Amino acid sequence: MASHQPQQALPVINIALLGDKDPAARALVVQDIARACLDRGCFQVINHGVSKIVMDGALEAASEFFDMSTRYKEVHASDDIRSPVRYDTTSRDGISKSRSFLKHYANPLDDWINLWPMQPATYREKMGTYSMEIQSLSVQLMGAIVQGLGLGSMYLHDKLGEGLQFVALNNYPQGSSLAGDTVGLAPHSDYGFITILLQSSPGLEVMHHDDHAWTPVPAIPGALHVHLGDHLEVLSNGRLRSLMHRAILNTDEARISIASIHGVAMDENVECAEELVDEGHPKMYRESSFRDYLDFLPTNVKKYRRFVQTLKINTAA
Ligand code: OGA
Ligand code: NI
Repeated sequence: MASHQPQQALPVINIALLGDKDPAARALVVQDIARACLDRGCFQVINHGVSKIVMDGALEAASEFFDMSTRYKEVHASDDIRSPVRYDTTSRDGISKSRSFLKHYANPLDDWINLWPMQPATYREKMGTYSMEIQSLSVQLMGAIVQGLGLGSMYLHDKLGEGLQFVALNNYPQGSSLAGDTVGLAPHSDYGFITILLQSSPGLEVMHHDDHAWTPVPAIPGALHVHLGDHLEVLSNGRLRSLMHRAILNTDEARISIASIHGVAMDENVECAEELVDEGHPKMYRESSFRDYLDFLPTNVKKYRRFVQTLKINTAA
């Protein structure tokens, strides 16, 4: 279906001037980000300050981890989705079709890094450096996004700095070119405010808000992909929408992606920003925390529903 639709290019934004002292220079970048969030719910960033060495290091560490023996990887397996480090190959979440993954918390790093895999030997160092740099980029990007919403660039700043970072390494097998498009990870939206994703090769696809067509996200060397999650839809009181996305198996090679999900602390409730609620825009979502999402997941394995849908307040008079 998707391949018959004309594809619209996804925004690529140079954020070099986001940290500029000149507010006018920054404002132009904020405007680009605001537009991309509104129109597509995603964008790629370049000149983001995370070096190629750090990004390649993280992909290498992930790849070396997945190359370890099943017996070693399964040391990190857990049935409990609340486990702070979890390796799995099955679809307890209802959406994994053909992937293995390692997920772990990452911010603040000192709280979690000692629970991460000890092998490969450079895993903690490489994934730790990457995670820390991505965490700080996420605070910068969120500053631009909330500024674009008219909330001021410091809105939630401290809570985001201390907030939750959930890093998911995804490992997909090579797809068969004869089988056509094969889904590795079924359509879903992420929780949290934003996801920052690095992919070793193409495979990620995003759904257009209006016509629901799938657009492949190109793997631009050095760029990072950013998309909006359920809690940003809530915070913005529906002005921004969380993005449906999926992963297709790459028919040229096995593929790795690293998705970093960012939010406020586990038990901190996210609600619609007061500034975005008025007579013309009644509150559209109930408040919820990341923990509420984790509680929601197991009840949802068979029949995939989106978390954000369960938060909607029926505003029809
Ligand atoms: C995810 C995700 C996409 C990908 O981990 O939530 O959507 O390209 N990953 O692996
Ligand atoms: Ni996702």
